[in-house]
Amino acid sequence: MNALGKTLCRFWASSIGKKLVVAITGVMLVGFLLGHMTGNLLVYQGREDLNDYAYFLHHFLHGWGIWLARFGIIAAFVLHIIATISLTRQNRAARSSQYACETTVQASPSSRLMIWSGLTVIAFVIFHLFHFTVRVDPALASLKDPADPSRHDVYGMLIAGFQNPLIVLFYLVSITLLCSHLSHGIASIFQTLGLRTEKTRVPIERLGLAISVLLWIGFLSIPLLIVTGVLTDTEVTSMATPAVLSEPNP
Ligand code: HEM
Repeated sequence: MNALGKTLCRFWASSIGKKLVVAITGVMLVGFLLGHMTGNLLVYQGREDLNDYAYFLHHFLHGWGIWLARFGIIAAFVLHIIATISLTRQNRAARSSQYACETTVQASPSSRLMIWSGLTVIAFVIFHLFHFTVRVDPALASLKDPADPSRHDVYGMLIAGFQNPLIVLFYLVSITLLCSHLSHGIASIFQTLGLRTEKTRVPIERLGLAISVLLWIGFLSIPLLIVTGVLTDTEVTSMATPAVLSEPNP
């Protein structure tokens, strides 16, 4: 093995090396979530803006852009999970004996939930990819933008995809757990990078909470406003309105 390989192996074998991998991939994933949420909020600007944005994502760098981003996200996601599992095992093995009593007395509810919220996020991402990226439901896959039938109607897909209250409930539970995971995880990133001191502890915890609440509201406002009928398909409405208006009075 060459010198670089040996250094990487030593880095990975140490617990600080794995913690750094968790922290750096965590930063990448939070960055992706902030970008994804901001893009999704274009739904409030209307069909054209959201569909333009989706079209741009799929055609940026002649279609290579999205694949580069996908590769980066998948690599970060997989490394984040593997390093976390490995760290947990290493920590358990390092404890020569189990504590006589539970050691979670001072742990916050979100830190105790980390493993469960993490597993729910994995299940959610798999479901979400089948829902909106692979589009296993032919009714969602076949939607075409009314202004340009050569491209997919992402706006119509969101409206149709969030009509089912059970699906919305699943998004609600998963994204709430994801945000609980982040509120603890963001503070841990600062801890690993050595930036959490007694002085910065409170502002860092507030920052973690603020980012989590922002993502929670930004993501969940969409399915909740759709399932409650506040956000509707403008094309359907504008097509239905003349028919309703032209109905003869009884
Ligand atoms: C209610 C909130 C969300 C909405 C409305 C939403 C919407 C969408 C849509 C429409 C797509 C497909 C875009 C396209 O192909 O044009 C997508 C893809 C994706 N979403 Fe979300 N999303 C939400 C939450 C999330 C969350 C919380 C995560 C991560 C935990 C996530 C991760 C992804 C990923 C990884 C993709 C695949 C991107 C790709 O490779 O094409 N999404 N989302």
